[in-house]
Amino acid sequence: MTPTSDPQHTLAVDIGGSGIKVMVLDPAGTPIASRDRTETPNPATPAAVIQAIVSLAQGKTYDRVSVGFPGVVRYGITETAVNLHPTWVGFDLATALIDKLESPVRVINDADMQGLGAMAGTGLELVITLGTGVGSAMFLNGQLIPNLELGHHEFRKGETYEQQLGRNAMDMTGKKKWNDRLEKAIVQLDRVFNYDCLYLGGGNAKEINIKLPKRVQVVPNVAGLLGGIALWRE
Ligand code: BGC
Repeated sequence: MTPTSDPQHTLAVDIGGSGIKVMVLDPAGTPIASRDRTETPNPATPAAVIQAIVSLAQGKTYDRVSVGFPGVVRYGITETAVNLHPTWVGFDLATALIDKLESPVRVINDADMQGLGAMAGTGLELVITLGTGVGSAMFLNGQLIPNLELGHHEFRKGETYEQQLGRNAMDMTGKKKWNDRLEKAIVQLDRVFNYDCLYLGGGNAKEINIKLPKRVQVVPNVAGLLGGIALWRE
């Protein structure tokens, strides 16, 4: 890394099932350059993904790193990664990246990071990310309840939210059916959580073409990176 003279530039990294994205944010959380992206390596082992992040970070100027990871993360350790590779279970991603990038690193779940970039901070706010997997995050008055894993809970017809609304489901059933399912999911999530606001994000949110009910809004996928600044707030 090249440290900045103003010691608060954050390299935000979003590890996704199909792409890895990075962006440098200034102290206010404003991007200082456009987003860079590379395909997620296949197989998406820790070594291959870390190498991709190191390549994306090369030549960039930052002081600390925030990473959104597509699985449960506790204390920098990745505990699940259903859409990457089994060797992520129990992997100390924070320490590995501190070594490679020579900067302080914080890692959280990708949907949690997306939520941090999208939520307003009042009431019960729920976030659903629609991409390769289906992610979820919940906030009460701006306080994150980490690692909510709705994607792997049963939704309908014996299938989970991720099986019904993930990338494979969209590829197999088409966008019309996927949107019909999403409409049903929104109703079900409202019944369960009685949210004040539901944010829909992730790479496939751009495919939404249903009329959204009140209290539901689409957030741009870039929120996944903008949330990176919030990891350093407390
Ligand atoms: C993972 C979540 C993740 C989501 C989106 C799911 O398969 O279990 O932790 O947030 O995919 O990447």
